[in-house]
Amino acid sequence: MALSVPLTFSLLASALFIAPVLARVHQHSSQLPVNKYDYIVVGAGAAGLGTSLLLASRRMVLAPSLFLRPALGIFDTAPSSLSILMTFFSDEGILAAQVPLLAPTLTPNYMSHHYGSSEDYDRLARITGDSGWSWNNMKQYIKRHEKIVPPADGHNTTGQYTPSLHGTNGVLPKSLPGYSVATDSRIIATTRELSSEFPFNQDITSGNVLGVTWVQSAIGGGKRSSSSTTYLASVKDRKNVDVLVNAQVTKLLRTGTVGGKPSFKGVQYAAAPGSPTQTAYAREEVILSAGSLGTPQILMLSGIGDKDELASHYITTVIENTSVGKNLSDHALLPNNWIVQGTESLDGLFRDQSALNSALVQWQANKTGPLVHGTVNHIGFFRLPSDAPIFETTSDPSSGPTASHYELIFSSYWLHPTLPSPANGSYMTICSALISPTSRGYLKLASADPFQTPLINPQYLSTAFDKYTLREAVKAAKRFTSGPAWADYILAPYGDLASTNTDADIDAYARKYTSTIFHPVGTAAMSAKDAGWGVVDPDFRLKGADGVRIVDASVWPFVPNAHTQGPVYLLAERAASIIAEPSKSNADLRGNLGFLNPRSR
Ligand SMILES: *[C@@H]1O[C@H](CO)[C@@H](O)[C@H](O)[C@H]1NC(C)=O
Ligand SMILES: *[C@@H]1O[C@H](CO)[C@@H](O)[C@H](O)[C@H]1NC(C)=O
Ligand SMILES: *[C@@H]1O[C@H](CO)[C@@H](O)[C@H](O)[C@H]1NC(C)=O
Ligand SMILES: *[C@@H]1O[C@H](CO)[C@@H](O)[C@H](O)[C@H]1NC(C)=O
Ligand SMILES: *[C@@H]1O[C@H](CO)[C@@H](O)[C@H](O)[C@H]1NC(C)=O
Repeated sequence: MALSVPLTFSLLASALFIAPVLARVHQHSSQLPVNKYDYIVVGAGAAGLGTSLLLASRRMVLAPSLFLRPALGIFDTAPSSLSILMTFFSDEGILAAQVPLLAPTLTPNYMSHHYGSSEDYDRLARITGDSGWSWNNMKQYIKRHEKIVPPADGHNTTGQYTPSLHGTNGVLPKSLPGYSVATDSRIIATTRELSSEFPFNQDITSGNVLGVTWVQSAIGGGKRSSSSTTYLASVKDRKNVDVLVNAQVTKLLRTGTVGGKPSFKGVQYAAAPGSPTQTAYAREEVILSAGSLGTPQILMLSGIGDKDELASHYITTVIENTSVGKNLSDHALLPNNWIVQGTESLDGLFRDQSALNSALVQWQANKTGPLVHGTVNHIGFFRLPSDAPIFETTSDPSSGPTASHYELIFSSYWLHPTLPSPANGSYMTICSALISPTSRGYLKLASADPFQTPLINPQYLSTAFDKYTLREAVKAAKRFTSGPAWADYILAPYGDLASTNTDADIDAYARKYTSTIFHPVGTAAMSAKDAGWGVVDPDFRLKGADGVRIVDASVWPFVPNAHTQGPVYLLAERAASIIAEPSKSNADLRGNLGFLNPRSR
């Protein structure tokens, strides 16, 4: 999301060198001691894409770094002789990758860290026919994954979350907001004043997401908790992990045929367009974690996809599968801005070089102050009323009766992906996000050149349901601000929001300003073993192939009720247990679907 931070500040920030400690990180393939490993984890992405795709590509680069757990899980249980190669995006030296409030200048994830609706997992269990995906089984991974720590400002968090739902011993430090903002008390007051529509939810980690909640963020001790500072750092002393940065996998290599299926236990990669390609081979498996955009691109470049599409780029089809790159699903985002009183919003900070510099000095001194703010302190998930007219023509696409249709995201400053921040004034923003979209997009190769960005058409708002729901989400944001708590704070809606009086006005406004919160999923969807669609089976194995698993957001067949990093970490935790201990992962649960209510989708 666009957020103007003075250039000089960015330069100052980038001049400060902050290096996570990574063991055996290799900058160049020639430094790798061998080219054969037990496992190869492909987690690097493309760089240098066009402006609009730059955001997506950075997401693609960072998202894969969430998936180290498979390799690490293997480590925990396997002999240390097991060797692993990972290709990885490096955040070494990037200050904005550590300072929470600078996230928008880099546009990796915004750190909001939760897991979605329990009904998302039960729905995945129904779709895949594998009860190991049910919430009942999946919630065990929360405690393995996270470590809840005090917020940066040390405030009393009683009533802001439910401690018993959380891990205290996991890998990734997370916390409640560490810097309070002007809107906090007004939002909480609104959950009392307008409680029937906007109730308070103490902790959505329960699996019930409905209501307004304090955001839990992947922030510990005032710093971003990234996969490199957490999972990768936890194995920094392991000698059997080689991490290769600055390498892009250009395709999987076919290494033979096993049980009648093509085996792909090799990868080809290159440092940059035009550089010589290198190869590496896996004795056991290649784990593809290149993200919802990178993974289908690599599959297609390897001859796995729609035969006609591949033929148009002179790529020989090895596995025909028309689901690769299809069913792309994402959370569309529409920001609504209001002009507010006074100077309490964070807008002034972003415009004032010396204030920013002293905030940075404070952050460096003791990791407190405005820079530990994780961009939003509250979010809320809501349903359309059950008698909404749209349900006369569309069956409810949400994951279940306690899952949501839309989200409201509250920030105490100007936040807008497409409109630059005004030069004066104070603002608050409520973004409306579509959580249960029925639109499905796709990704196709633009060319057989692996360094060329694929064509991505998300097809946002292409269904009547999506248009209706986003419209209702704008109305809900306006109702939220009509509560008494805002009377002495909000001056006026900003810009075109001020003239959204009719449904047609809102639709035009939505068409003009809707973009994305970057939660694409579904392009290598998981489905039941015998399904006539889908790309991976419930154990993450690439259908029709030997030696390949896909472990990233691309396997979610629908987008969950969450900012996707949390659900993706849980998925990676499960992948680790399936790969490391296949017998224990879910054998006892499999086939026992009786507790799930059958639903039609
Ligand atoms: C935090 O607040 C709660 C409720 O107001 C109170 O019971 C508790 O003693 C406080 N904890 C500390 C450490 O002050
Ligand atoms: C995807 O590939 C698998 C394995 O070859 C096949 O069973 C499935 O039908 C394919 N799906 C589609 C939609 O082509
Ligand atoms: C898209 O997903 C739906 C299930 O949600 C499935 O029925 C359909 O076949 C999928 N389409 C493709 C091309 O994979
Ligand atoms: C952190 O440092 C700032 C000065 O940079 C100081 O004002 C503040 O009191 C310190 N906070 C804590 C908790 O030490
Ligand atoms: C910004 O400044 C202009 C020119 O002085 C003024 O007309 C406008 O009302 C100001 N906007 C806000 C939001 O304060």
